[in-house]
Parts: sequence; C-alpha cells; structure tokens
Amino acid sequence: MKTKRTKVSELLQSTEFDREVLVKGWVRTKRGNKHVNFIAVNDGSTIKNIQVVADPNQISEDTLRLVTTGASISVTGKLVASQGAGQNMEIQASQLEVLGTADPEKYPLQPKKHSFEFLREIAHLRPRTSTFSAVYRMRHAMSFAVHQFFNQKGFVYMHTPIVTGSDAEGAGEMFRVTTLDAKNPPLTEDGSVDFSEDFFGKETNLTVSGQLEGELGALALGDIYTFGPTFRAENSNTTRHLAEFWMIEPEMAFYELSDNMDLAEEFLKYLAKYALDNCADDLEFLENRLLDEEKNKPATDRSPMTLREKLQFVVENDFERVSYTDAVEILKNSKPNKKKKFQFPVEGWGTDLQSEHERYLVEKHFNKPVILFDYPKDIKAFYMRMNDDDKTVGAMDILFPGIGEIVGGSQREERLDVLRARMAEMHIPEEEMDWYLDTRRFGSVPHSGFGLGFERLMIFVTGLGNIRDVIPFPRTPGNAMY
Ligand code: 4AD
Ligand code: MG
Repeated sequence: MKTKRTKVSELLQSTEFDREVLVKGWVRTKRGNKHVNFIAVNDGSTIKNIQVVADPNQISEDTLRLVTTGASISVTGKLVASQGAGQNMEIQASQLEVLGTADPEKYPLQPKKHSFEFLREIAHLRPRTSTFSAVYRMRHAMSFAVHQFFNQKGFVYMHTPIVTGSDAEGAGEMFRVTTLDAKNPPLTEDGSVDFSEDFFGKETNLTVSGQLEGELGALALGDIYTFGPTFRAENSNTTRHLAEFWMIEPEMAFYELSDNMDLAEEFLKYLAKYALDNCADDLEFLENRLLDEEKNKPATDRSPMTLREKLQFVVENDFERVSYTDAVEILKNSKPNKKKKFQFPVEGWGTDLQSEHERYLVEKHFNKPVILFDYPKDIKAFYMRMNDDDKTVGAMDILFPGIGEIVGGSQREERLDVLRARMAEMHIPEEEMDWYLDTRRFGSVPHSGFGLGFERLMIFVTGLGNIRDVIPFPRTPGNAMY
C-alpha cells in the first residue's frame, strides 16, 4: 500500500514511532559529512522543521548533491525517536526524491539572517522564511478568530462593495476606478471628464470603508460585520499605513457608545487570547526574534515585556477609558509638552492628536491600552453622534502600545434633522446620500460600530515593527509589485 503524505505539524505531534512515513517540503538546511546527512525539511504547516537523516548507502550521492537550501524534496522513511538535541523525532530516509532543485548560486534565501528590507524586495520568496511563514499562519489564525468571535455572537458577515459610487465617508483620499481612456477621455461641454460615459455611468472609486453600507445592514439584521480590503490613496509613507489594508467593521443596532467600547475591548481581548491559545509555536519564534532584535537597542528603548507578556497583559487588564478633553489636559501638562519635545505641541482643546501624543498616553502615562472618547466634532466624520454639549461627538479610538490607533469608531447620528444639519455644515451633498438618510427616515434606531485595522492588529500580535511585513504583498506609495 502506498504511504500517504503526512504534514510535518501532524508528525511532530505523533508518538507512534518505527513506522513508515512520507513527507514533502522544502529544504531549510543540510549539514553532515561523507557518512551521514542531516536535512531540515519544512512544509509550511508549522514553524518547526523535521529532521531527515540520509545515509549515503541508502540515498545516492547524485541525489544528495541536489539537496540544497530551497530545493523541494519528497522523503519516505522510518519515523524514529531521536537522540539528537533539538528534536525528539527524525526520519531515517529510505527513499528521497528531489522534486525541484534550487541552484545555491542563485537562490536568494540562504541559511543566514536577511534584512527585512531585502526580504521585502523578494516578497515572492519571503513566505519561505521562518518569520514570514509564522506571520502568514498567524494572519490566517487571526482571520479565523475574527469570524469565530462574531459568529458566536450571532453577527452576520456582510459583504460590502469594493467599488463604490459614494465618496462621502471622507476617511481618506480615494483611488478612482475607470475604464475611460486616460489619454483621451470623453469631455463634457465645460471641458471636464464626462464620467457619464464611464463603465458605471458615474464616477466610482475603491472603498475606504464598508461602514455606510454596513449601517444599512445593521438597521435590518441587528448585528453585522464586514471584513474586507479597503483602500486609501494617502501619501503617508509610515510604518503604520498601507494603501490597501483589511478592515473589520462591526455595526450594531441598539448599541450606544459605551456598548460599542465594551464590544471592541472584548473583541481585542478575544483575539489576543486566541493567539496565545492557538499560535504557541509561531508566537514563541516571533518572541525570540523580537528579543534578538531588541538586543541591539539601548536598554531604555527595549520593551519591558516579551511578546507573549504583552498579549497576556491585554487579555488581563481593563483598557483605560479617557475623554478627549481629559487627555488633552494630561498632554498639555506632560513633561514632553512642557519641554517642547513634541513635534506638534499640544496647545489646547480642539486640536487633533498626533501619533506621538497617542503613544505618550499609552506608553508613558497610562501604560496600557487606552480608549479615547468624545472628540471635538470638527475633527471627526459627519456621521458621528452629536453630544448634548454640541461640541463633541460620540467617537471612540482605541490606542495600543507600539501602534497608536488600532480601532476607530463611534455611535452614529440616528436623528434625521441633526444628521442633515451636520451634512450641510460639512458640505456633503444630500442628493448622493439619500439612501443613507432613508435609514433615518424609516425606523431609525441608535446604533454604533467601529473599524479594526487588521494589519495594525497583526503588528501587535507578531511584534513586527513595520506594517509592510504583516501583509503578504504590501501596497504603498510607489510600490505595487506582483
Ligand atoms: O479610523 P478609521 O479611518 O475609521 C473608519 O474607517 C470607520 N469607517 C470605521 C468604523 O467606524 N466602521 O479606520 C479604522 C481603522 C484605524 O483605526 C486603523 O486601525 C486602520 O483602520 N487604518 C489603517 N490601517 C492601515 N493603513 C491605513 N492607511 C489605515 N487607515 C486606517
Ligand atoms: Mg481613525
């Protein structure tokens, strides 16, 4: 009977030794001598490799010569308990076939440390490294956890459009979607581009958020969430911004702002705990990677907690809830503000908070995740619910250590007249938003929602420092490879 292939992750759990197994994967390293070869094989199912012991009496030298880092192989052999340090089992190869060679002179990934910058340039091969395979497995685990969390709570996963004809969200600059000839577009009488001749008969863009459509769902289904790609054409070349990122946006009927905060906090805790419970091997690897990286930093810049301690901390501690007004007071009186250490000094109420301010609050002042709420209406979107003071809106942002804003959300303005007044104030054309206003005309209810940036979450759970390294194929200004 033909032996069936077993994944390495499954083999490593096994306690059934002295049986024949078949593994297939990519060679990470080969070492040895004339008498014996040790080949570390990885098949992507786990961060761990399985050791294959190849005896030149069994496996021809011609074959073994082709077993180099990056080559793919198929190995049949006996699974035995291992005496060697670092593993408790290995495969004694009886047959070894090279499926695909990898010329050691040309294969860019060699068993040594490569910089993240270099690996970004070969993003098509970086999933073959331990770090990136760990990140992508964790991306999967976190996606699954997102769906599990909402599914258990009875939320409906709603697919909102990626091509959108509405640009009212105002969350950022948009990418236009068009089939018009860029060199020779049809023009209207006044010389501007005639989008009525475009594919959709109007101007369309890639969505910056599924929220407005999500609200339509929530006001019928009660609780919904979206989880899809979003696009922002901001020219911000930071370690926290992508032009294409994934966002999770729950929207809940009958939720007020405090309910919204409770759900967001429970959600983030659930995700951190899910990672701890389900990604132990990858987390251990990423934690050691981070410790290693931090060795090069001055002691004062090193994180006081390990990666898993940071996740545990989020699971165990309540987030600090602070109003924008109180936060501004704290910042105004803070040491860095008084000593003019902030690039943007905090002068008073009404200014938008920069990431340096958010990080001061989270990393220096409170030393824990912070939920800021009730922001000045002038720095927030038109749909946020006006508070009784007529100055602030029921917004909430969650700030995380090392990241800054990870969640942005609000209670929504459900009162038709107040919403229309806000739209007029902010020059949002009502004609284009009639469908949105209908939810307030017919059976309007208090409702709330938020958006979690999936890659910001991934930065947090993996401990990587750059958002370009937690998404397989990052899109940033000037870069859209693959
Ligand atoms: O704060 P934002 O802009 O909020 C919204 O889009 C709302 N419509 C959400 C809602 O209430 N349903 O974005 C939400 C989150 C941010 O907190 C951040 O985590 C992430 O999305 N985000 C980005 N992530 C990567 N790259 C970018 N350019 C991002 N812009 C926002
Ligand atoms: Mg925001």
